[in-house]
Amino acid sequence: MAKLLEKLFRKKDAAAMIDAAARDNGGLKRTLTVTNLVTLGVGAIVGTGIFVLTGHAAAEHAGPALTISFLISALGCVLAGLCYAEFAAMIPVSGSVYSYSYATMGEFLAWFIGWDLILEYLFACSTVAVGWSGYMQNLLGDLGVILPQSLQCSIFDHKMANGEMVHGLINFPAVCVVAIVTAFLFAGIKQSAWVNNVIVVIKVCVILLFIGFGLSYINVENWIPYIPERITDAAGHSHFGWSGIFRGAAVVFFAYIGFDALSTTAQETRNPQRDMPKGILLSLGICALLYVAVTAVLTGVVHYSNLHVDAPIALAIDSVGKGLAWLGPFIKLGALAGLSSVILVMMLGQSRIYYAISSDGMLPAELSRIHAKSGVPRNATVLASIATGTIAGILPLTVLGELVSIGTLLAFTIVCISIIVLRKTQPALKRPFKVPLTPFVPLLGAAICLLQMLSLPWNTWLRLIIWTVAGIILYFSYGFWHSRLRN
Ligand code: ALA
Repeated sequence: MAKLLEKLFRKKDAAAMIDAAARDNGGLKRTLTVTNLVTLGVGAIVGTGIFVLTGHAAAEHAGPALTISFLISALGCVLAGLCYAEFAAMIPVSGSVYSYSYATMGEFLAWFIGWDLILEYLFACSTVAVGWSGYMQNLLGDLGVILPQSLQCSIFDHKMANGEMVHGLINFPAVCVVAIVTAFLFAGIKQSAWVNNVIVVIKVCVILLFIGFGLSYINVENWIPYIPERITDAAGHSHFGWSGIFRGAAVVFFAYIGFDALSTTAQETRNPQRDMPKGILLSLGICALLYVAVTAVLTGVVHYSNLHVDAPIALAIDSVGKGLAWLGPFIKLGALAGLSSVILVMMLGQSRIYYAISSDGMLPAELSRIHAKSGVPRNATVLASIATGTIAGILPLTVLGELVSIGTLLAFTIVCISIIVLRKTQPALKRPFKVPLTPFVPLLGAAICLLQMLSLPWNTWLRLIIWTVAGIILYFSYGFWHSRLRN
């Protein structure tokens, strides 16, 4: 038993990992600058959260005070982001939290967290791809193009057509966007970053246009009361008040997911020690500002009780009449662009996690093979593409958003705790960036993430447990026996 435990908790030597990455970098190319990192961050963060979730969260949970929910959620992310920054600057290798936990908590927990990261990136990409499909079909509809019913949504999903509920076969546009993104990822990290930069400029411009032009249509009466009084509905669920603000924070947490995907590119960053902390914190700060401003304008233009829709920004534009009608198509294009870059960066992160785990022997070696010319782990990218395309094409995704959130919150909690552990166990490691006020800041970060996890429903916890058990079975059937460290 003692021997088994020793094997399960063997740690990689952090200093050796840093040396190995500095020596040959595993064939990956170091091309990303701090500007690339900030745009990759904004590319991964701004998506469904702001274009879809804002309306529901304001109408159901927080009213105009959703701005406060966004700030609370940002606080939890910034605390976790500081911890990510310390790790990514100290151990600048591919694999993010998976690699950090291999050095701090041993192989078994590293596998556990790597499996959790796969859950986050895989389901986040798939959820966003389905959202993209919705916007695309809407835009095609404006142009008079209607897809055959069987290609509109998955076999497990349904749509209303002529007052009847009908099922689809496969969500074809969602599969297409995954295939297109894969083609960009194949071209190389530099090209992917370039495409992402263009998309980010488009989506940020669209958001700024909405804020700028929407300001003059704000009716301040829509903000009164700013924190609507708490009510309890017939089913016993409470809404609004301060508890609504906190529930709203857990819902809009999804909007911040993505900054952590930056740390998976540490091995492809020119100067990760200097640039990773800047990239993570700047992209988080920019997104928090954009989110608060959009929410303020949105709830100022439309009364929060009318925001229960999937495209709240489009609704706000329609509600002011002809004045902003010209902005409508731009908003749809901006949303499409926004969602595309989230898929791009999340799939990039997903493939780098497969790459890192496979380099350690716990997934088949083919996944860590790097294409000589492009410097891309192509097999890992193909796996990410097939897994994402399959899930987006055929699985119902309505409940998976919360699964993404719980998986991400778990990863954030582990990163915060690992910072404290590593300060104790490896105090001599060079830390180009340090989380201030440790252990207070990491502990507060872990507590905020845990509280948000606890506010999620029990069936989300159950799905997390099922996913984890599947991961443990896979580890004991393959990873344990093939682990490089063990052998
Ligand atoms: N933060 C990403 C989004 O909102 C996942 O789509």
